Formats: sequence, structure tokens, C-alpha cells
Amino acid sequence: MPSRAWAPRSRRCRPRRSATCCAPISSDAGSGSTSPASSRNEWRFRLIAFTLNGAPAALDLPEDVPLLAALREAAGLSGPRFGCGVEACGACHVLLDGRSVPSCLLPLSAVAGRAVTTVEGLGSETAPHPLQSAFLAEQAGQCGYCLSGILISAVALLQAKPDPDEAEVRAALEPHLCRCGSHNRIIRAVLRAAREGVPA
Ligand code: FES
Ligand code: FES
Repeated sequence: MPSRAWAPRSRRCRPRRSATCCAPISSDAGSGSTSPASSRNEWRFRLIAFTLNGAPAALDLPEDVPLLAALREAAGLSGPRFGCGVEACGACHVLLDGRSVPSCLLPLSAVAGRAVTTVEGLGSETAPHPLQSAFLAEQAGQCGYCLSGILISAVALLQAKPDPDEAEVRAALEPHLCRCGSHNRIIRAVLRAAREGVPA
């Protein structure tokens, strides 16, 4: 379970230009032959404005940088996790206009003018989201690496279908891998949250 950084560190995000994980992959990447100045010219930097966890945000980064890297390295949000990097594990999921989507390949430019919610935007340690409370009550998770993405998909499910059955929960969480094998507890937690009611 994420326990500390459930609130954005900054409402107006300031990128760290030197963050290597924000660099688009290119034949020059990592070769050491490209200076920062020429890199800036080759990369199409653009100020991308969007809503992040309910607050206005603007990131001046290469527009092709993956949203996950922008969130983690420039916005300082460690909730979305890097797992596979190829949209195959679910660890990086965020809500985009209410839909649960992987952020590891999604270019930052795709979220311009849209609303992004990470697990940090769901609740806090002192005021957890009902789903977070249900996950704690069911002790759903061990290492917790998968949980921020799973919580995001569970929120999207309960917003669309407040009273899902077990098969619907399993279908909604199908894109997510949990290497700790906590699946049964996770499903119980989502069903518990549905029973107890999640505000729209
Ligand atoms: S890191 Fe995005 S789906 Fe695995
Ligand atoms: S709780 Fe460890 S990967 Fe899911």
C-alpha cells in the first residue's frame, strides 16, 4: 500500500530537465554524444497543461515523454509504478478522464487539457478513499507494488458499476499482475468497498 506520498508535492510541477528517464528513447540516447542544448532542439519541448489530481498542472517536457516518467520524475508522484514498460502489468495505471489506462507508453501530449488522477489523488493517510480502507481491512496486498494501479482500476470500476459481482471485478482487474499472489484478498477488498458504498 502506498503510505506516505498520497498528496502531490507541488501543484504546479517543475520538471527536472536532467532526469534521464524523461528522455525519449532515440538512437542518441545514452551515447553521451548529444549535449543538453542540442537535445532540447531535437526534442519537441512543449508546455503541456492538464489537471492533475484535481489541481492545474503544467509540465514543460518533450511531448513524447511517457506520462509515467513525467508523473514520477517531474511531478514527484511515486504512486504510479514502473513494472513492465510495455502496458502488460498494470502497475502504472492512472485515471484519464475517469478511465483506467496504462501510463508507461502514453505520451505526455495525449493528456493536454484532460484530467489525470493518480493514487495520490484518491485519498490520504488521514482520509483514505473507501477502497483504500477496504484494502487495509482485508489486508489486500503484500509488497504493495501492484496496488496503486489496481486501486485506480477498482475506482474506475466502482464509478461505472457500483455493485459489481465477482466476475466483473475479476474482469476489471484482468490487466493487473500481482506477483505476491494477493488476488483473492484484492477481490474481497473491492467487493467489500462496493458493499460499503463508494461515493461517486
Ligand atoms: S509499467 Fe505500464 S503496464 Fe507495466
Ligand atoms: S502485493 Fe506484491 S505485487 Fe501485488
